[in-house]
Amino acid sequence: MTVIKQEIQDASSFIEEKIGGLSPEIGLILGSGLGVLADEIKNPIRISYSDIPNFPVSTVEGHAGQFVFGELNGKMVAAMQGRFHFYEGYAMDKVTFPVRVMKELGIEKVIVTNAAGGVNKEFEPGDLMVIADHINNFGTNPLIGPNSNEFGPRFPDMSTTYSESLQTLAHETARDLGLKLQSGVYVGNTGPTYETPAEVRMLRALGGDAVGMSTVPEVIIARHAGMAVLGISCISNMAAGILDQPLHHDEVIETTEKVKANFLSLVKNIVSKMN
Ligand code: HPA
Repeated sequence: MTVIKQEIQDASSFIEEKIGGLSPEIGLILGSGLGVLADEIKNPIRISYSDIPNFPVSTVEGHAGQFVFGELNGKMVAAMQGRFHFYEGYAMDKVTFPVRVMKELGIEKVIVTNAAGGVNKEFEPGDLMVIADHINNFGTNPLIGPNSNEFGPRFPDMSTTYSESLQTLAHETARDLGLKLQSGVYVGNTGPTYETPAEVRMLRALGGDAVGMSTVPEVIIARHAGMAVLGISCISNMAAGILDQPLHHDEVIETTEKVKANFLSLVKNIVSKMN
């Protein structure tokens, strides 16, 4: 067995012991300011990342750094309250480690969420966006290195990265709830700087609708492992240079606070209808 496979199994065995007979079906990766969703989980079993063997520890503000297992709208979920970002200095295998642990736990579907800057000028801060596709602008790829066939293929197909049926479900759910839901292309940048206005113009010209500093690595690993992925961005601000104001992390957190209710009801209703 490879070292990484052993590390994943050690982490997942530790979790299995803590959660008893629960078998989570859906993984939730909760972005900046969106971790509150995990507070809605019934009979939660919380496991701090720092207790899980081989897990990195989250450092960024607004991220609690724990897994929450339990029932959300009738489904057993594993929610990550806080994720690991490349800009924090974690190597890509650390950033994506939790996704492989989810897969080892038997999870086949993940909902990946984030706060993102709006690149599409039609968007407004507070909009929610289903990720229809992404552009990997990290300048690297979490699958670089020897490929373990036990995880997935050497050259994974990325033509339908974000599940079309889950995107449809998201749009139907938003319509039923009377919520506005955008759809677009998420560009993943390393950060931690926000973009320059010139970079934002470039991203728009390249077909990006939203930009953030996460998601792409985890989604690549999830797809490599054959998991179905739904991505939802909360447009927390317009990207640099669109409005005449500087960007600040506090604004990102404030906007996600404001749209929390919509975000929660959208994701919970999607979860309840996933099969
Ligand atoms: N750029 C990159 N990442 C972000 C932004 C942004 O404008 N807003 C929230 N995350």
